[in-house]
Amino acid sequence: MSPSDNKQTEDKSSSLQKSKKKQKKEDAWRPEGPRDPFAMLDSLPEKKQQEIQRALHLFSLGPTLPKTLQQARRHTYRFWETQPVPKLGDNIVTHGPLIVDETSVRKEPYSLPQGFCWDSLDLSSPTVLRELCTLLSENYMEEDDNTIRFDFSLEYLQWALQPPKWLAQWHCGVRVDTNKKLVGFIAAVPADVRIYEMEKRMVQVKFLCVHKKLRLKRMTPVLIRELTRRVSQQGVYQAVYTAGIVLPTPLSTCRYWDRPLNPWKLAEVGYPGLRQNMKLQRALKLNRLPEVTKTPGLRPMTKEDVLGVHSLLQANLRKFPLSPILSVQEVEHWLLPRENVIDTYIVEGDDGAPTDVVSFYSVSSRVLNHPIHTDLRAARLLYIASTATDPVNLMEDTLVLAKSKGLDIFSALDVMDNKSFLEKLKFSVNDGSLHYYLYNWMCPNVSPDKV
Ligand SMILES: CC(C)(COP(=O)(O)OP(=O)(O)OC[C@H]1O[C@@H](n2cnc3c(N)ncnc32)[C@H](O)[C@@H]1OP(=O)(O)O)[C@@H](O)C(=O)NCCC(=O)NCCS
Repeated sequence: MSPSDNKQTEDKSSSLQKSKKKQKKEDAWRPEGPRDPFAMLDSLPEKKQQEIQRALHLFSLGPTLPKTLQQARRHTYRFWETQPVPKLGDNIVTHGPLIVDETSVRKEPYSLPQGFCWDSLDLSSPTVLRELCTLLSENYMEEDDNTIRFDFSLEYLQWALQPPKWLAQWHCGVRVDTNKKLVGFIAAVPADVRIYEMEKRMVQVKFLCVHKKLRLKRMTPVLIRELTRRVSQQGVYQAVYTAGIVLPTPLSTCRYWDRPLNPWKLAEVGYPGLRQNMKLQRALKLNRLPEVTKTPGLRPMTKEDVLGVHSLLQANLRKFPLSPILSVQEVEHWLLPRENVIDTYIVEGDDGAPTDVVSFYSVSSRVLNHPIHTDLRAARLLYIASTATDPVNLMEDTLVLAKSKGLDIFSALDVMDNKSFLEKLKFSVNDGSLHYYLYNWMCPNVSPDKV
């Protein structure tokens, strides 16, 4: 071989190497050809996919993130270790930010692998809202075994993502360049938060979701970094978020409690929240509710009640060291009833002003491949504040109202003073926990009854 041949071969092989490297980089988030397990799964009928997922779940072979503190201690947080959050195991006694407000915020967006682009979702466009709805409904799984899946409505997403002062750039989407398919999402909404003695302007982070086919490819850290950048651009450096998994470091760990409203249906769909070993007849008897409510003056909240409910909630929420500070506009947004999204009831006092308030939002799920049932509707307690009515009675009436609206189960966290009625009203504690986190803020742990 002549020296020039040699040179040509070297050139070729180095350009081949370069193009391989480039290809590898470009493929960072792409399913890897025929061996990609997601592609293989996807080519199977949905019923088969479910069987496999159920088996994986059963033998716990699927990739899992820590659900307990013990598991968390053995996990290496490659991303979270780089973030301004307290380290697991730190004994925190001080209050304040981990890094002081940044003066220069990165101007350009974080880079995405080739083939993907950022898109701030314009949720006032029904088409975009529907796209988000599809991404979340198809990829935001509720049960690990893929038998029940959230089914977010357009109205629910508008309520959850467009409170007063929402910003379009905080509805942060990732699309595939070629076909513009939405494959990733993370959102922040403005939130003023009381944390011990401090009142802080923060954001609440919501709806982090990555398309199933792009999981475990480290898209989440990029989404979080980019959202943090966009939030810092507005001069906000703290965030509050919740997750079912343990990350560094939970500020508070709360439990979900479930109360069947329609035990028959829950048993038929095999809902895990129902006590498994209980005979149906017993479950029906145990969970029986009165036909009608008994609190005099209990009625749905109207626009005229906004100011009264605002003062009632202000006074009540102030008792809790980790709580939202709601403006009048926010009370109107978060609490004023919207069909199939949010229900709020007040007890009208003698002077017409509300003495008690209770609100719950509704989350629908699709039951997959069931011969009879297609959907499941859960009520989740948002706020309860009472000054004149016994909370047990008020809550029992709320269960009656939720049931009459066709809801199948009622969930509440053991936050605030909720423990005072949970057991009495036959709620039972669910397996899962919900951890509360603060980004770039450290302070001592908060017990659930202080949240
Ligand atoms: C949550 C979800 C986006 C994670 O995606 P993934 O492909 O498994 O994870 P990625 O490879 O992109 O990123 C992994 C990193 O993200 C972190 N992460 C995973 N889930 C997280 C969450 N809910 N909140 C914050 N960080 C999270 C992991 O801890 C890991 O970082 P580490 O190395 O520091 O441990 C994805 O599983 C999903 O869309 N699930 C359905 C919706 C959902 O449950 N959303 C969360 C609601 S709280």
